[in-house]
Amino acid sequence: MSTLFESVRLGRYDLSNRLVMAPMTRSRANLDGTPGDLSPEYYSQRADVGLVVTEGVQPSEDGQGYMATPGIYTPEHIAAWRKTTDAVHSKGGRIFLQLMHAGRMSHPDNTPHHRQGVAPSAIAPGAQMFTPTGLQDAPTPRALTSDEVVQTVADFAHAARSAVEAGADGVEIHGANAYLIQQFFAPSANQRDDRYGGSIENRARFAIEVATAIAEAIGGDRTGIRLSPGTPLWGIDEGPEGADLYRYLVAELEKLGLAYLHIMDQGNEALLADLRRLWSGKLIVNRPGRTRDAIGADLASGLADLEAYGQIILANPDFVERLRTGAPFNEADRMTFFGGTEKGYTDYPALAD
Ligand SMILES: Cc1cc2nc3c(=O)[nH]c(=O)nc-3n(C[C@H](O)[C@H](O)[C@H](O)COP(=O)(O)O)c2cc1C
Repeated sequence: MSTLFESVRLGRYDLSNRLVMAPMTRSRANLDGTPGDLSPEYYSQRADVGLVVTEGVQPSEDGQGYMATPGIYTPEHIAAWRKTTDAVHSKGGRIFLQLMHAGRMSHPDNTPHHRQGVAPSAIAPGAQMFTPTGLQDAPTPRALTSDEVVQTVADFAHAARSAVEAGADGVEIHGANAYLIQQFFAPSANQRDDRYGGSIENRARFAIEVATAIAEAIGGDRTGIRLSPGTPLWGIDEGPEGADLYRYLVAELEKLGLAYLHIMDQGNEALLADLRRLWSGKLIVNRPGRTRDAIGADLASGLADLEAYGQIILANPDFVERLRTGAPFNEADRMTFFGGTEKGYTDYPALAD
């Protein structure tokens, strides 16, 4: 039986252990979408996990939804991310950028171009979002034309190439948590009548095209994808066919030889077991709110090949060492999750401090 501290092959890389830093938006980027000055320090502090997955990074202007999130589509973004990837590599770590298109989870006040958000259909999520002037309703988005969907696929591939140019070891496609890719899955957000809407095959098509284009651009062995089947967030309802859509999708993704599938579990154990059977590659499992005594359980049961943790790693730069030695964990401070300075970002103490 493998343990969390054993190395594992992930795509073209040998990782030093089976612990993954889950992607976490921190809203500390500059207005031009370059990551903030503390980004290299923040990620390199946590580089002893087997794989760091960054915060969601927009692949295009239209992909931004929240305030102060970074991008990876201009030469300036590439140069700035290079500092972070170098810092992680200098500590012997591996880093994938998470490519996140927010779709309708966007507010014009949060983006540089202040345009209406884009989505599969013109249906508002019924959610509120933080903006520079406080909480506001996420407005009704504009439906992408078929040609624009094709362009969005190309934007993802361009962003993946840019990430690799910036020194990233690969990218994780954000297909989870009610953002653009999952909006295509859900009939409640996708009422299109072109080849991207209607049947399961059509609703899964955008995700498969994005994964295929990225695998062609940078190699399947540098491409991961994150899914969260059944997310109840922000007006997403995948309907009675939801589980079937994921079984179809994962069987199709299986053909692309991707580095990994990352599931953020929403409590459907039967579906999770099915997806494990359909997926012969590496599976990363993230279980929200997992307590210390349950760390390692999915590896022990044979379900997962790697386990991802978010808030514990956010609050414990030396998470791996604390886990190994049984040292207590720092508590995460929710007040400093999004935006701000080094407080709650790079100043969580390590054991040696
Ligand atoms: C501050 C914060 C920001 C997050 N941002 C993202 C994100 O950008 N992309 C993503 O896929 N998940 C994001 N998540 C979800 C986490 O990756 C993870 O799934 C969640 O926190 C549950 O795992 P945990 O209990 O180990 O933290 C975020 C979570 C937190 C706490």
